[in-house]
Amino acid sequence: MDVEDPVRRHYRRDDLERVVLAALGSSGADLSDLRVEDLRGLDQLHAGSVEATEHLLDLLDLSTSSRLLDVGSGVGGPARLAAERHGCRVSGVDLSPDFVELARSLTARFSLAGQATFVLGSATTLPWSDRSFDRVMLNHVGMNIPDKAAVFAEVHRVLEPGGVFGIYEQMLIGEGALTFPLPWADEESGSFVESPQRYAELLGAAGFAVESEENRAAAVAAIAAASSGPTGGLTPADLFGEGFTERLDNNIAATMTGALAPVVMVARAI
Ligand SMILES: C[S@@+](CC[C@H](N)C(=O)[O-])C[C@H]1O[C@@H](n2cnc3c(N)ncnc32)[C@H](O)[C@@H]1O
Repeated sequence: MDVEDPVRRHYRRDDLERVVLAALGSSGADLSDLRVEDLRGLDQLHAGSVEATEHLLDLLDLSTSSRLLDVGSGVGGPARLAAERHGCRVSGVDLSPDFVELARSLTARFSLAGQATFVLGSATTLPWSDRSFDRVMLNHVGMNIPDKAAVFAEVHRVLEPGGVFGIYEQMLIGEGALTFPLPWADEESGSFVESPQRYAELLGAAGFAVESEENRAAAVAAIAAASSGPTGGLTPADLFGEGFTERLDNNIAATMTGALAPVVMVARAI
């Protein structure tokens, strides 16, 4: 069996576009001219929603001339945020056909003039030539990928020398068993969380210099406490599928015990 099949199955959802557009329509959004705020975090499939993505994008120091790759782009929320708020061009790649389809159909309803595009593909064999980008982000994806060395080698290949790689992942920061299911896996055999030290080792081996590392657990808790909730009765839980509350509760419990944390790392290609 292809090691990526369980990931495709995990994120498989039928009829996503109809459900999401119905929810957006009932919230009063203009479906022909959507804005990031209309989705209110529905399309941000990671801890800390829009605020967490904004933090990551700020660390990437984007400009209108940046060429950003979003590896594991989900339904396109972080990529659209980068395009809308920073004016850069963004390419997204994701393994899950349903998510790529929704990323494309939602983005077609934004006035982004082709600034954000999405392809179906794997992080371990990126479908771009060498030095195609000057920025890359990986946002809550590595937990599904056993061979992070292959991902980092690919990211290094498609980045220009001196290019910046922003990583925002659930990482193992302490002892303690994880309780499954978690948002990214039903059981331990599908979860590949690693420590920040391991990320740093693998990044170094792939030709990156790690410039910063930040535990965002407290920031994410503050964002969650201040959150007014997503649009039209839909939440990212509807995109993640059944039992999301249990998954999220297990994730929060692992954060409270100090086993897991959302961690941001910035590395530069050397
Ligand atoms: C938790 S979601 C995060 C999506 C997005 N980065 C965001 O923050 O909204 C994880 C995504 O990673 C994708 N993914 C997992 N393994 C992948 C791989 N090997 N290559 C490409 N995408 C992958 C999944 O299909 C899913 O869309």
